[in-house]
Amino acid sequence: MATTSKTSTKDASKKPTGLTGKMEDSEFHKFFVDELKDIYWAEKHLVKALPKMKKAATSTELASAFEKHALETQEHITKLEEVFALVEEKASAKKCDAMEGLLSEADGIIEDTEKGTMVRDAGLILAAQKVEHYEIATYGTLKTFAENMGHSDVVAILEQILENEKATDVALTQVAESFVNEQASQE
Ligand SMILES: [Fe+2]
Ligand SMILES: [Fe+2]
Repeated sequence: MATTSKTSTKDASKKPTGLTGKMEDSEFHKFFVDELKDIYWAEKHLVKALPKMKKAATSTELASAFEKHALETQEHITKLEEVFALVEEKASAKKCDAMEGLLSEADGIIEDTEKGTMVRDAGLILAAQKVEHYEIATYGTLKTFAENMGHSDVVAILEQILENEKATDVALTQVAESFVNEQASQE
């Protein structure tokens, strides 16, 4: 009879690759991995929502911003899979209630605004920036966690995603402030 004796050997030396920390069995590591699963779910759902947001946008500027970020979001998913591999965990998604809520809010904005208006775009930018800020908060914290655990290679990947989310937020502000909000205020 095969017994899977899990005598909690805290032998960190058995996982030398990619990890400088010795925290694979720690609660903090488990929490970190759980949160990775949460943002992985979030990115996977966002990548499906962005084309819908692109289609709903009035201006070509906003539509192309959404198209660009859909491609980048696909890259975030790939990068998260690299992070899972580095911490020697299977990439899996765990439902993110926050992203589900933010995306249903975006749906609500599409329903509540008229097609072809700048109010629609102003609303879509609001919805998208809420998403970006959620991502910025998440990646900022996860990066700090990875620093604390000594996963320098993981830190580098999370930093790349974080910078892209910040750049997206800035790009959305530019679209809003260059013409969308002004035209919306005249509708
Ligand atoms: Fe992302
Ligand atoms: Fe994003």
